[in-house]
Amino acid sequence: MKEPVAIQTQNLTKKYGKIVALDSLNLAIQYGEIFGLLGPNGAGKTTAISMLCTINTPTSGSALVNGFDIIKQPDKVRRSIGIVFQDPSIDDRLTGRENMQLHATLYDVTPPQARKRIKELLELVGLADRADSPMKTYSGGMKRRLELARGLLHHPNVLFLDEPTLGLDPQTRQHLWSHIEELAKQEKITVILTTHYMEEAERLCTRIGIIDFGKIRVVDTPTNLINTLKGDVLTVVCNRPQEFIDKINELKLAERVESVDGSIRLSIAEAEKMVPVVVDLAASHNIEIKSVSIHKPTLNDVFLYFTGREIREEEAENQLKTHMRAMGRLR
Ligand SMILES: Nc1ncnc2c1ncn2[C@@H]1O[C@H](COP(=O)(O)OP(=O)(O)OP(=O)(O)O)[C@@H](O)[C@H]1O
Ligand SMILES: [Mg+2]
Repeated sequence: MKEPVAIQTQNLTKKYGKIVALDSLNLAIQYGEIFGLLGPNGAGKTTAISMLCTINTPTSGSALVNGFDIIKQPDKVRRSIGIVFQDPSIDDRLTGRENMQLHATLYDVTPPQARKRIKELLELVGLADRADSPMKTYSGGMKRRLELARGLLHHPNVLFLDEPTLGLDPQTRQHLWSHIEELAKQEKITVILTTHYMEEAERLCTRIGIIDFGKIRVVDTPTNLINTLKGDVLTVVCNRPQEFIDKINELKLAERVESVDGSIRLSIAEAEKMVPVVVDLAASHNIEIKSVSIHKPTLNDVFLYFTGREIREEEAENQLKTHMRAMGRLR
């Protein structure tokens, strides 16, 4: 018999006119995983999870969440999942506890059960002492923690988090990661999150799916993904990059050579030993080297490898601006 899986999608596709926001997603996520969809702005992350949450309908394809069909059994799907979405949906005038109580009513959790559960969850996310303050007095991080707790109120076994730490400062972001890890462990839930923070994906996720232009490029554990890049990354900045790339390729000096924003990135085993070779090669062709650096491959390099481009911090910034505009905080 096949093991039950938390999520199974089959050619899940969403089109908006000519835009293919999600292109034939085939994915199986096991119970107990923290699965990350990692991709730049517009990659299709929100589209993918909003369909799994039944907020959005697929153009074609299908999916099972907790064994329920997202098209034929949307109510059952919704009752069995928790959602924390990119756009906050909390009422600022209510206190943290009141917001939780409201959610309990929506999900038919009985008052005694709700009281107990709310207390336990508020403690878990470190908000017990602020539970009775209006949420407009909460910081961004506190609001996000409350949303996390609220998403778990009705004991879902799958939790969807869309960009859980967007707009939070690095320290608060790390705090929230610990909470997510703790919740996943204590509540024994499967977590599906979207992010474009490499560090977030690497720290939290048991597996990562890299998504770009609506297509999943690769799915694996963070370690396996990084190990697919053999050797170190040697970055060279020089005055005639294309010519130098040709010379490097002629001599087959590297496993892989890429040009990124005017710099050259080489994947090379034992890169330290290759530095003099690279420098000599440049000198022999009168190519002027401006800098050379070496680093161990990171998830960012993996992303670059599978998509041919980097997710940059400014993308995160842009995303935040769009988000704030949508919330009416920025013009
Ligand atoms: N309601 C909509 N109507 C038209 N196009 C849409 C709609 N929602 C999303 N799209 C398009 O679908 C693509 C995927 O969008 P999606 O929101 O899923 O990306 P994302 O990976 O979540 O990006 P971000 O990191 O910015 O949140 C984009 O090209 C987007 O413009
Ligand atoms: Mg999104």
